[in-house]
Amino acid sequence: MFKLGGSSLWILANVLTALLLVFAEGGRSFPTKRQDAGLLAGVGMADITPPIGEIVMMGYASLDQRANGVHLRIRARAYIFANPSQPNRRVVFVSTDTGSASHHVRQMAVNYLKSKLSTADAALYNADNIMVSATHTHAGPGGYNDDFLYQVSTLGTVPRTREAIAQGIAQAILEAHRNVAPSTVTVTSGNLDNASINRSKKSYLANPAAERAKYTSDIDQTMVQLMIKDGQGLKGIVNWFAVHPVSMNISNPLVSGDNKGYASYMWELQERQRGNSRFVAAFAQSNGGDISPNLEGPRCLDTGAVCDGDKDSCGGNITKCVARGPGYAQGGDVLSTEIIGSRQLAKAQELSSGSQTTLAGGVVDYRHAWVKMSDLQLEGGGPQMCKPAMGYSFSAGTTDAPGPGISWQGDNDPNAGNKPLFDFIRNILKKPSAQLVQCHAPKPILLATGEMDTPNPWQPHALPIQMFIITRKVAIIGFPAEITVMAGRRMRDAIKAQLLADNTVDADALVVIAGLSNTYSSYVTTFEEYQVQRYEAGSTAYGPNTLAGHIQLFKTLAHSFNTTSPPNSTPNFPVTTQPAASSDLNFYTPVVLDTTPGGKSFGSVTAQPAATYKSGDTVTAHFVCAHPRNGASTPRTLGNVQLPGGRLPGGAASTYMTVEKQLANGQWSVVLDDSGWDTTYKWARVGVAESSCTLKWTIGRTVPVEPGTYRLRYFGQNKSVIVTLAHSGATNAFVVSP
Ligand SMILES: *[C@@H]1O[C@H](CO)[C@@H](O)[C@H](O)[C@H]1NC(C)=O
Ligand SMILES: *[C@@H]1O[C@H](CO)[C@@H](O)[C@H](O)[C@H]1NC(C)=O
Ligand SMILES: *[C@@H]1O[C@H](CO)[C@@H](O)[C@H](O)[C@H]1NC(C)=O
Ligand SMILES: *[C@@H]1O[C@H](CO)[C@@H](O)[C@H](O)[C@H]1NC(C)=O
Ligand SMILES: *[C@@H]1O[C@H](CO)[C@@H](O)[C@H](O)[C@H]1NC(C)=O
Repeated sequence: MFKLGGSSLWILANVLTALLLVFAEGGRSFPTKRQDAGLLAGVGMADITPPIGEIVMMGYASLDQRANGVHLRIRARAYIFANPSQPNRRVVFVSTDTGSASHHVRQMAVNYLKSKLSTADAALYNADNIMVSATHTHAGPGGYNDDFLYQVSTLGTVPRTREAIAQGIAQAILEAHRNVAPSTVTVTSGNLDNASINRSKKSYLANPAAERAKYTSDIDQTMVQLMIKDGQGLKGIVNWFAVHPVSMNISNPLVSGDNKGYASYMWELQERQRGNSRFVAAFAQSNGGDISPNLEGPRCLDTGAVCDGDKDSCGGNITKCVARGPGYAQGGDVLSTEIIGSRQLAKAQELSSGSQTTLAGGVVDYRHAWVKMSDLQLEGGGPQMCKPAMGYSFSAGTTDAPGPGISWQGDNDPNAGNKPLFDFIRNILKKPSAQLVQCHAPKPILLATGEMDTPNPWQPHALPIQMFIITRKVAIIGFPAEITVMAGRRMRDAIKAQLLADNTVDADALVVIAGLSNTYSSYVTTFEEYQVQRYEAGSTAYGPNTLAGHIQLFKTLAHSFNTTSPPNSTPNFPVTTQPAASSDLNFYTPVVLDTTPGGKSFGSVTAQPAATYKSGDTVTAHFVCAHPRNGASTPRTLGNVQLPGGRLPGGAASTYMTVEKQLANGQWSVVLDDSGWDTTYKWARVGVAESSCTLKWTIGRTVPVEPGTYRLRYFGQNKSVIVTLAHSGATNAFVVSP
């Protein structure tokens, strides 16, 4: 990161954006017409898995963690809601299995979507009424972020990653658009135990005792769920629960939706096995900023002892102190993912059969604004937000993935004189101005991101602030960062109070935080947590008052539901500005050529499976293969899935592998592809231009399998100097017995 940032060769790519002042119409109140019959709702889902092969994953910020295979394909899941009395006033919630969201990608998705719709239908959708919230899986390819700090940690912008995600989002919304119909939408909530732990207890304890006493736990166990049904049965659910999808650890090279992706996959699989092929289940992110799924807590890698709780280190070494998931001893991170995913799923299904509040009457509406954070001043002559900056403890990481050991969590010495070497390297990049240092105190500044705009801003100056209300029962906050448990509670309480004061919602309304929505600006902690400067606080970008600033903004937005009327969706913010498009720089070398070892052809099998297996066994085969980045990245709708396991139509062009069963007539029939949980595809480079691929199938792990004769097939595309050619290969047949 330092080397890259230190280069002075980059050309300034920024343009100044226009400062947009939008004046509210003020005073006009909302139509209060009530409608009895339910809502209009639509659901859709699409694949967003980009081309893989040496692409750095977004989440752990480790250049060593490259996407080199597929475990579970990642998805966009879209939901459209409207009141039948105002069918054109729609809100669109999209949950993506990605590390974070991007406004650039959202805008691309809007453009794709509009290009597929009639003029009249295209007018129903724009960035203002589409909220894209990332689940925060740490097992998705990077390259789509808006700001340079996050781009550089994934080696830059990867246009095909952006395209795959944007097209998938558009495809999911398009499918939802096509099935918008009168539906019964209900909401319910409950508490989920034993699926999460706090990972910054010391920060949490800095919050006032009286405030902590209001809650039974230092984690947020609240699960909120929307359920959509119509005459044909269950159509979809959206579930919000606060937990980091970091069950798959920093050494995982396979694309995966992690624990939330697993929960989604399993419920969708179960419904498809019952013949309900349209069902879409999003397990979305909430205020999980300081919540880990690694229930056994931080342990020393070598001894297994509990780490030293003050600095989360083992004898002073933080790199050795890593939190363990519940499956650590028995099956590693895949089992931990299944356990945490299954617990979310079980609670979600329990909620779906419990008592519900039906959403009917009231308006379905949205508000959206761009706000330049550093220009924001707190009300009553309060302090101003800072330009963004990241603290020393940003580089310490967390116990879910500790940093290299050059700093630790809780470094809150604002004099920053305690690490001369650190500061020396930092100052090559950008020495923070005295004003920035003062504004962020007690955070010792590692990266003066707000003063670094080359080749494009390192962190956002402007943020998208967005909120939906769905009748008088549900409000959704589109929060553009990760927010901690207590910060999230304060945010929800403040918004609920505002909405109640305006008589916009009922007393039993649920306010939900949709975390990591629309762009990414790292973390938001409470003021008190900020003083402790653990990782989340060191990554709170706009200084000690970041949360207070957000609460002020979202309260203004909430109030605007009562003071402005459609079609106006942007309230009166003092400073509104949209960011310029970011640069497309990247540091990936293109695939030039694929070769095979002497005498072998692409798709030939170098290690065959055994002759017989039984259910529960894992079949493994190795192939001579090609670089997977040669593959196409066409998005694929799941709308007409026929097979279990979430298999998609499209065949060879859209999967790296299939599991095939031999029919009575000798022909082969596809039963699984690379999209589900039971199969893995993994690529590895051999020497300069050769590749080896490993295909695995764990028989019956989630999709039951009939006894019979099977084979694995591999699909790829190899690049010669002139053309790229498709190839495939199949293993010998093997027998699966019960
Ligand atoms: C919070 O973290 C501490 C330290 O890791 C642990 O002892 C405690 O059990 C955790 N509490 C919850 C509710 O996870
Ligand atoms: C800290 O632990 C890591 C992981 O075990 C090890 O690679 C590293 O050398 C250790 N650092 C020091 C300074 O001992
Ligand atoms: C929580 O889960 C662990 C295993 O992950 C289990 O040992 C423990 O009994 C569970 N605790 C509760 C209260 O359910
Ligand atoms: C990460 O997961 C892998 C596979 O389950 C395991 O071998 C490895 O020990 C894990 N790493 C850590 C730091 O827990
Ligand atoms: C807006 O606020 C006024 C004053 O409290 C209230 O009478 C009105 O019902 C509110 N509008 C809506 C849509 O709730």
